[in-house]
Amino acid sequence: MQLLKAYSETLKSYFEQILVTKDPVTLYEPIQYIMSLGGKRIRPLMLLHTHKIFGGDVKSVLPLAAAVEVFHNFTLMHDDIMDNAGMRRGQVTVHEKYDVNTAILSGDLMLIQSYGLIGKCSDSPAYADIMNTFNEMSVQLCEGQQLDVDFESRNDVEIDEYIHMITYKTSVLIAAAMKMAAQHAGAGEEDQEHIYQFGKYIGIAFQMQDDILDSFGEKAAVGKRIGGDILEGKKTYLYIKALELADDKQKAELVSLMNDPHIEDQRKIDDVLKIFKSTHVRVYADQLKEAYRDLAFSHLAALKIEESDRAGLKEFGQYLLDRKV
Ligand code: IPE
Ligand code: IPE
Ligand code: MG
Ligand code: MG
Ligand code: MG
Repeated sequence: MQLLKAYSETLKSYFEQILVTKDPVTLYEPIQYIMSLGGKRIRPLMLLHTHKIFGGDVKSVLPLAAAVEVFHNFTLMHDDIMDNAGMRRGQVTVHEKYDVNTAILSGDLMLIQSYGLIGKCSDSPAYADIMNTFNEMSVQLCEGQQLDVDFESRNDVEIDEYIHMITYKTSVLIAAAMKMAAQHAGAGEEDQEHIYQFGKYIGIAFQMQDDILDSFGEKAAVGKRIGGDILEGKKTYLYIKALELADDKQKAELVSLMNDPHIEDQRKIDDVLKIFKSTHVRVYADQLKEAYRDLAFSHLAALKIEESDRAGLKEFGQYLLDRKV
């Protein structure tokens, strides 16, 4: 996205400066590895962009931008263990390339590093508020991840439970990144709240798109195994809505496909996808995604910012919904 490109290089060179491999390399190298795979880096880029919108100086907030990205990559390292994922950003995952113990400890270190990076902003008058935003988000993210796992063994997950789960596992990090930027830049409390709500609702739409891409995306673009959520029994909107729309025969088939460990992986994916397609769940998923986008946009209207900045944030929101990557 053009809007965010401006900060990519600044961020990249900051990462090169702070992420150094030292002894024991077995601990530090996996961190270099996952960080070098890049990803879209939407969280730090949006943090930097939001900071600028509220009149901040980009250089002073780089540690916070790095903190949210290092934290995000820590969650991915552990998430791939929890989700049995072999592929991330088109490459082999850390626990597969090294081993599970390595992914646990290197991930833990990244969590610690992210707090260390926030500490670099301790001279900011908003430091205590920023730390509070980050802490609250971290706790919620863990709660969301646990709900995601708990839902794997349930077949009666409701849509509002799913929305709560994805709000916590995914969208609060996007929301917190933007709020931390606003806090650091000295924005007023109302603006902080509206930018948080914008991030939260756009984050829900973002995770819905992630779930859609997991079933309907192109492997080469997504960089993960297509159908991974189906194999793990994830209760995505696609699954919950398909179960609601299916006739009795399809319903029984869907539940048995998702719960039978003896069905060969690719057959399971293909058969579940057939039911997703015949129930047209994707149409409903797109509609709900757009409803959350509109909720996000309603918070933009209230921000006391330049019109061109409001338009830029809208463009960013739309990009998160339309992305194929
Ligand atoms: C993946 O996040 C995990 C989710 C919360 C959906 P991204 O899609 O932002 O992953 P990268 O960082 O761009 O690889
Ligand atoms: C990601 O959810 C949430 C966190 C990593 C906290 P997913 O499990 O859907 O993310 P991907 O699809 O593996 O990137
Ligand atoms: Mg997961
Ligand atoms: Mg995952
Ligand atoms: Mg996913």
